[in-house]
Amino acid sequence: MKRVYLVGFMGSGKSAIGKRLGTLLNLPFYDMDTEIANQTGMTIPQIFETYGEEGFREMETEFLCNFPDEYCIIATGGGVAMKEENRKIMRRTGLVFYLNSTFRDIWRRISTDVNRPIVQRSSRNELEKLFHNRKQLYLQSAHFKVETTNRTLNEITQYIASQILRLRNN
Ligand code: S3P
Repeated sequence: MKRVYLVGFMGSGKSAIGKRLGTLLNLPFYDMDTEIANQTGMTIPQIFETYGEEGFREMETEFLCNFPDEYCIIATGGGVAMKEENRKIMRRTGLVFYLNSTFRDIWRRISTDVNRPIVQRSSRNELEKLFHNRKQLYLQSAHFKVETTNRTLNEITQYIASQILRLRNN
């Protein structure tokens, strides 16, 4: 196992936890959205506007395919686990943790975010449907499901770190 992937819906804490995990385990941390934005020189809304969601999805797969083979933590975008190809790459090249939240918590965190095109173009009901539809696919991609409700970022980080260290020491 080389890479550690964090998957889950927008606003489930992937980036905040990934950053902490990187610090705790002394591993480099990458946020896929940030990396893609840096590589293209565009923001995520600009990429959606210029290339469409399909174009962005291709960039995500390219990122996963071309990423150097190194020990690291990767916070994925919330749609990455929707493609079978991506799920296969993640499971083959690393350990995948699914951060599970309630829609209520998610909505509270993302409803006013202007940098998430899917939030911008969807109603609360549409997002809730998407949240439920995606759940199965997050579960299919993950080696571990991590409950985040009523747990602090540090508690979640400690839990994930303990699972990684346990596997590494076996
Ligand atoms: C998306 C999630 C976003 C980003 C893009 C699309 C999605 O990442 O990749 O806006 O389809 O769920 P976060 O999960 O980091 O917000």
